[in-house]
Amino acid sequence: MTDHAENRPLTAVLHPSADDDAADHGGTTVPLVLVHGFPVDHRMWDETVAELTGPSLAVDLPGFGDAPDAAGEPSVEALADALAAALDARGVHRAVVAGMSMGGYVALALAERRPELVAGLALVDTKTVADAPAARDNRLRIAGEAEAGGTVDPVRGMSETMLGETSRRTRRDLVETVAGWIGAQRPASVAWAQRAMAARPDRTAVLEAYEGPVTVVVGTEDELTPVEDAEHTLAHTSAASDAALVLAPDAGHLAPLEAPEHVAGALERLRARVLQG
Ligand code: MLT
Repeated sequence: MTDHAENRPLTAVLHPSADDDAADHGGTTVPLVLVHGFPVDHRMWDETVAELTGPSLAVDLPGFGDAPDAAGEPSVEALADALAAALDARGVHRAVVAGMSMGGYVALALAERRPELVAGLALVDTKTVADAPAARDNRLRIAGEAEAGGTVDPVRGMSETMLGETSRRTRRDLVETVAGWIGAQRPASVAWAQRAMAARPDRTAVLEAYEGPVTVVVGTEDELTPVEDAEHTLAHTSAASDAALVLAPDAGHLAPLEAPEHVAGALERLRARVLQG
């Protein structure tokens, strides 16, 4: 039997699945498209969505949450293309795209490949640069272990490291929630995504060329992409993007879960700037 998996386009899933909230409301607003980090899924945005005042679509990238498995050569570009196809299918021609960490890598790839879709860009607890060689090697090691063992064990510890010190100390319920999300992911997807991220290029120049409004958000206690990464990102925005930096207090890498009101406020202000533009 011939396996066509290598050529099959990847599928991203948008939540909510009905298109009522996603419609462009006759051009009076633009949806926020919320792209999750690794190794979780669209649920990481639930608390932020509850604080938003306008329409949003939370994505499950290929291999995560409700989306079918990813296949073929692992790449962030393939994830961005899958997201673009899902937006095309939903009739979304313009969106404010908010990407958290891995979601930020995807958002930047989308801005590069389908700039007309990205009316505004929020880069949340993420970075524009590629991995250093040691980080790349570590990803490939984790991918191999997840695949060989058929387990997400190599990334389970991220339920602690994705959260800030304050959350870890005072909100153990969040640690349990994130552990549940990680435990629900597929080992093959963990491996695929690690290889995709390992292969991603530096997209600082994509951000420098991007002229739509930009907001950079970071949890003050983010240990994986710390405030210095956000400052580097901010420093490489174009003058036209009129970029803003928002610090989410007492939050770590998962600021949309830990400080949803701050993140939602930043995203609504970005949406307002897009609509004024
Ligand atoms: C994430 O939260 O998406 C990860 O920290 C991204 C990464 O491993 O670079």
